Amino acid sequence: MDRLVVTGGTPLSGSVPIAGAKNSALKLMAAALLAPGRSVIHNVPRIQDCVTMVEVLEHLGAAPAWTDGTLMIDATDVTPRETPYELVSRMRASILVLGPLLARFGHARVAMPGGCNIGSRQIDLHVRGLEKMGAQFHSEHGFFEATAQGLRGAVITLDFPSVGATENALMAAVAARGTTVIENAAREPELVDLASFLTGMGASIEGVGTPTIEIEGVDAFEPVEHTVIPDRVEVGTFAIAACATGGSVVLQGARADHMDLVFSKLADAGADVGITEDGVAVSLRSRPNEVDLVTLPYPGFPTDLQPQMMAFLAGADGTSIVTENVFESRFMFVDELNRMGADIRTEGHHAVIRGVERLSAAPVRALDIRAGAAMVIAALAADGVTEIEDMYHVDRGYQDFEAKLSLLGAAARRERELSVAFS
Ligand code: UD1
Repeated sequence: MDRLVVTGGTPLSGSVPIAGAKNSALKLMAAALLAPGRSVIHNVPRIQDCVTMVEVLEHLGAAPAWTDGTLMIDATDVTPRETPYELVSRMRASILVLGPLLARFGHARVAMPGGCNIGSRQIDLHVRGLEKMGAQFHSEHGFFEATAQGLRGAVITLDFPSVGATENALMAAVAARGTTVIENAAREPELVDLASFLTGMGASIEGVGTPTIEIEGVDAFEPVEHTVIPDRVEVGTFAIAACATGGSVVLQGARADHMDLVFSKLADAGADVGITEDGVAVSLRSRPNEVDLVTLPYPGFPTDLQPQMMAFLAGADGTSIVTENVFESRFMFVDELNRMGADIRTEGHHAVIRGVERLSAAPVRALDIRAGAAMVIAALAADGVTEIEDMYHVDRGYQDFEAKLSLLGAAARRERELSVAFS
């Protein structure tokens, strides 16, 4: 188990390169299953979740080869073998092979993510969308079995603009007979990236990035070469970290057009945000103002930056209110922040953050990818030396995290707990 040891108090300063978007790369990797032949994806981040998706692809018979940031996936010999629980339990996004496997083979067998069955809230929208296109699902022994004798176009109206459900429906609809319309679709930039990848493969898609996506099914797909968009959550994390430490950073390669609300909230807190030649510059030299925010599907404030903003606002000059509307249990890390002297109270999906002058170092844990990033931000802003346990969560989503922090002048080093075998 790795821990990160952070000495707080140094304002971050300098330039940091932004990696490819995790939440795009994972989907492009799944979509590559549609076409026999070799697809090439550039700018794939070297993070644990992408390593897991490579294992999923290998398991299905694809031949992925990774050199630097480029992933080549030969999907010629793919078969719809089952995707085992060992992989799906490590990463829920493994269920995104359902759509492309159904599209190509009319069959998919995928382990259910932990704590989930066909009717459960976590997966119901995926299942209902695919069923509308003619897929039949049944579950046994902890697996979903999906079959379709030729998918057909349908009108799918999602109860909620779920990112994953929109993606699974899209990856199946590209091969369905006739026209599919997805209403109340997710609009995230990563979904637009997926649609552009699929279009490169030969798919016919209109309206992506709006709530209504229209897809005309086609018979065959070609392999494609594509570059993943920059990771807006990584951009936001470093921007917030810079502001929390009273620093100034340039986020190389950042796309400001994907970050309107995030940058506008940082500006409300007192930050200067400006477009530069190679990205976006963000700085904040004073104690932040209080800011209220509400997480919502894109273009709302991203839930994946809510924990980092809470860590930042814990040091604001005033009281902020944060409302979490996307994931019901996403305030669990608040107890960890409070152990560092934050004054945060939660009630249902609202959090009241009374800003304190300074956080103070304490031993804490990373509870998930983004909560872990929030603890690192709190540690960078705090007095003293904070030890953050369970950094493996953070490694799922951030490439070279502490190396990038060090590049910006932070005092952060990793300690590895060695296990000793006695005989
Ligand atoms: C994706 C992102 C994740 C991000 C989230 C919301 C990836 C790999 N992950 O997750 O980082 O936080 O979007 O922006 O891209 N829901 C249902 N039924 C379903 C599916 C989802 O009720 O069938 C609910 C979920 O419980 C959750 C909400 O919808 O409350 C949002 O989930 P969704 O948009 O599907 O997120 P993911 O695609 O899992």
